[in-house]
Amino acid sequence: MVEYFRDLKVAGLFLLAAGLYGQEQPVPYSHKTHLALGLECNSCHRNTDPGEFMGFPSESFCMGCHQTVKADSPHIQKLAAAAREKKPLPWVRVYGIPTYVYFSHRVHTQAGATCETCHGAVRERDVITKEVVHNMRSCMACHAATKARAGCTTCHEER
Ligand code: HEC
Ligand code: HEC
Ligand code: HEC
Ligand code: HEC
Ligand code: HEC
Repeated sequence: MVEYFRDLKVAGLFLLAAGLYGQEQPVPYSHKTHLALGLECNSCHRNTDPGEFMGFPSESFCMGCHQTVKADSPHIQKLAAAAREKKPLPWVRVYGIPTYVYFSHRVHTQAGATCETCHGAVRERDVITKEVVHNMRSCMACHAATKARAGCTTCHEER
C-alpha cells in the first residue's frame, strides 16, 4: 500500500513537470519563432465547420518554407519525410477536456474571447504548456462573469 502511494506521488510529480515544462514534441516547433515571421494563428489553426475543433497545420504547408529554410536540419528532414509520406507528425496534445463536455471554439471566438484568454501568451512561447487551467470551475467562473448560460445542460448532455 505504502509502495502504491509512493508510486502515485512520483507519477504526480512527473505529470506536474510535464505540465509546466511541456511534453517533448516530435520536432521542436516554436510559436515564438514562427509568429515573429508574420504568420497568424489562423494561418495554421483553421476552425472548420461546425466550429468545435481547431485544426493543426499540414506538413506540406510547413514545407512551403522548409523546402529551403533549414533544409539540412535533422528536424526539418523529419518534417519533410512526414510531408512526403503524408503521415502527420504525432503532436503531443497540450489542452484537452473530457469528451462528455461540450465545447465549441467558434461560440467563444464569436463571443469575443481571444486565443490568449484561454491559452496564454502563445506568441512569446517556444514551447506550449497548459498555462491556463480549463476545468468546470474555470468554465463556470467565466460564464458567471460574462453572463453566459450556466445550466448543467449547457455543457453536459441531458441524462
Ligand atoms: C506555423 C504554424 C502555426 C501558427 C502560425 C500557430 N500555431 Fe499553434 N500550433 C502549431 C503546431 C505545429 C502545434 C503543435 C505543436 C505544439 O504544441 O507546439 C500547435 C499547437 C498549438 C496549441 C496547443 C494545442 C493542444 O492542445 O495540443 C495551441 C493552444 C496553439 N497552437 C495556439 C496558437 C495560437 C493562439 C496561435 C497564434 C497566436 C498559433 N497557435 C499559431 C502551429 C502553429
Ligand atoms: C513562413 C515560413 C515558415 C513556415 C510556414 C514554417 N516555418 Fe519553421 N521555420 C521558419 C524559419 C525562418 C525558421 C528559423 C530558421 C533559423 O533558425 O534560421 C524556422 C524554424 C523551424 C524549426 C527549427 C529547425 C532547426 O533545426 O533549427 C522547426 C522544427 C520548424 N521551423 C518547424 C516548422 C513546422 C512544423 C512548420 C509547420 C507547422 C513550420 N516550421 C512552418 C520558417 C517557416
Ligand atoms: C474559451 C476558451 C478558449 C478560447 C477563446 C480558445 N481556446 Fe483553444 N482550446 C480551449 C479548450 C478548452 C481546448 C481543449 C478542447 C477539447 O479538448 O475538446 C482547446 C484546444 C485547442 C487546440 C487543440 C485542438 C482542439 O480544438 O482541441 C488548439 C490548436 C487551440 N485550442 C487553438 C486555439 C486558437 C488558435 C484560438 C484563438 C483563435 C483558441 N484556441 C481559442 C479553449 C479555448
Ligand atoms: C473567457 C470566458 C469563457 C470561458 C473561459 C468559457 N466560456 Fe463558454 N461561453 C462564454 C460566453 C461569453 C458564451 C456565450 C456566447 C453567446 O451566448 O453568444 C459562452 C458559451 C458557451 C456555450 C454555448 C452556450 C449556449 O448558449 O449554447 C458552451 C457549451 C460553453 N460556453 C462551454 C464552455 C466550456 C466547456 C468551457 C470551459 C472549458 C467554457 N465554456 C469556458 C465565455 C466563456
Ligand atoms: C460551462 C460548462 C459547464 C457547465 C455549465 C457545467 N459543467 Fe460540469 N464539467 C465541465 C467540465 C469542463 C468538466 C470536466 C473537467 C472537470 O472535471 O472539472 C465537468 C465535469 C463534471 C462532472 C464530472 C466531475 C468529475 O470529477 O468526474 C460532473 C459530475 C459535472 N460536471 C456535473 C455538472 C452539473 C451537475 C452541472 C450543473 C450544476 C454542471 N456540471 C455544469 C463543464 C461544465
